[in-house]
Amino acid sequence: MKKSEGVLLRVEDVSVWFGGVRALSGVTLDAPAGEVTGLIGPNGAGKTTLFDVVTGLQPPGEGRVLLEDADVTATAPHTRSRLGIARTFQRLEVFGTLSVAENVLVAAEMRRGWSRERLDARAVAREAVERVGLSEVADVRVDRLPTGRTRLVELARALATRPRLLLLDEPSSGLTEVETLGLAQLLQLLRELAASGLGVLLVEHDMSLVMGASDRVHVLELGRVIATGTPADVQADEGVRAAYLGDRRLSAPARAVRAPAPEAAPVLELRDVRAAYGPIEVLHGVSLSVPAREVTALLGPNGAGKSTTMKVAAGRLVPTGGDLLLCGRRVNGVGADVLARAGVRSVPEGRGVFPNLTVVEHLRMATHAGTRFTDIEERAFGRFPRLRERRSQVVGTLSGGEQQMLAVARVLSTDPALLLLDEISMGLAPVLVDELYEAVRQAADEGVSILIVEQFAAEVLALADRAAIMLNGRVQRVGSPAEIADELASAYLAGAAG
Ligand SMILES: Nc1ncnc2c1ncn2[C@@H]1O[C@H](COP(=O)(O)OP(=O)(O)OP(=O)(O)O)[C@@H](O)[C@H]1O
Ligand SMILES: [Mg+2]
Repeated sequence: MKKSEGVLLRVEDVSVWFGGVRALSGVTLDAPAGEVTGLIGPNGAGKTTLFDVVTGLQPPGEGRVLLEDADVTATAPHTRSRLGIARTFQRLEVFGTLSVAENVLVAAEMRRGWSRERLDARAVAREAVERVGLSEVADVRVDRLPTGRTRLVELARALATRPRLLLLDEPSSGLTEVETLGLAQLLQLLRELAASGLGVLLVEHDMSLVMGASDRVHVLELGRVIATGTPADVQADEGVRAAYLGDRRLSAPARAVRAPAPEAAPVLELRDVRAAYGPIEVLHGVSLSVPAREVTALLGPNGAGKSTTMKVAAGRLVPTGGDLLLCGRRVNGVGADVLARAGVRSVPEGRGVFPNLTVVEHLRMATHAGTRFTDIEERAFGRFPRLRERRSQVVGTLSGGEQQMLAVARVLSTDPALLLLDEISMGLAPVLVDELYEAVRQAADEGVSILIVEQFAAEVLALADRAAIMLNGRVQRVGSPAEIADELASAYLAGAAG
């Protein structure tokens, strides 16, 4: 591996205020060429804000940004892009109606426009698409892709500008372990990019990725750098463990195995459900039941149909065949509002929050289902104190993790009968994920039935009472978490082969 050739990026004493909120306080850090530099920290610590400062989207109140010793603090974002800074966005910023190849071509064309080299933009784009493992879907419209793959489109687009410094804001979020380019390959790719001389600054909540890929890690908390060191150093740091990592993950307590619920009718049942987006059928006969007071985990690779199953269950997509039953009653096509009043609550993929409303306004809206506002507020803020501090902020300006907290708080704080949770851990700090799973478990123990889709099989299996594996639009297997854990790898592989 080529070692650092001097400091590519240096951030000096940077502070940013948003009104009374101090998002960054005197942050100094650097990212050398030829290395992956990790940037971790709790939700709302200021990581994305720092990216905005480096790329020029957010002018700092104080401090400087240096690119190879040149002060670029006042340089416009597009000029910084020409100087070799590229990034991906936590909230995806892609052209939904363009294909994967076209999205990436836009960047390659830009690069060709400003460089003196003779570049074949199409070839550059093709290579970038291939590099992130998306060649197979190169001609697919991006709004048809699952989240994880859309993130890879952003990565390819950044690569197509042939940057010197690459800023990645949670690239793994939404990726499953088994993907054309899964976590392991992404880690490998980051190492290769660094070895080729690029500087990579990586914001990531997946610890296996950030600790595996990074040469050095900076830890931010409340806008300050609280630790810098090798992955081993920062993992051993007491302050970092307390603020961010937590330690439950290292020794997850064994949960008492509960007796199976007596033969009550399942709260939710899908019988041979088919569903389609326009002419494309995505669910080809899904059968699944969610028993009362249990957590049922739905696992499977990207594109298996998990989120579509959740949409059908929430009444947001009418099945084209089969039956959807709620407590034994057929509810095909009754509408999401009717189901919501019957106690079905969902956190959809992508959160479903309103950027122009405040935190409190969201909680007020949650009263539509009958829970009193004061109860909702008390439960939401009790669970996520950070939201109390941000109660009057418009949600579009919350950090990614804070928005996720709100999406979850909104449903957990009402009185649900059935919770549909689609990747609620996405973008959350590990310590918070642990708390959230505990809250989910507790809700089930208090009588709520839960169907949960998660990216990290191991963690959700530790929480679930039973699990189902979904592949190619069908449920392939239902079993105890232990059984499913054993079969997961082979089931995914079989699906990939078939
Ligand atoms: N325009 C704004 N107005 C007010 N507060 C803001 C604004 N933009 C960001 N903030 C606040 O600044 C803090 C830092 O946000 P930032 O998005 O940088 O966090 P982050 O470290 O990226 O978190 P996450 O891991 O959740 O993505 C947050 O508390 C956020 O609510
Ligand atoms: Mg962020």
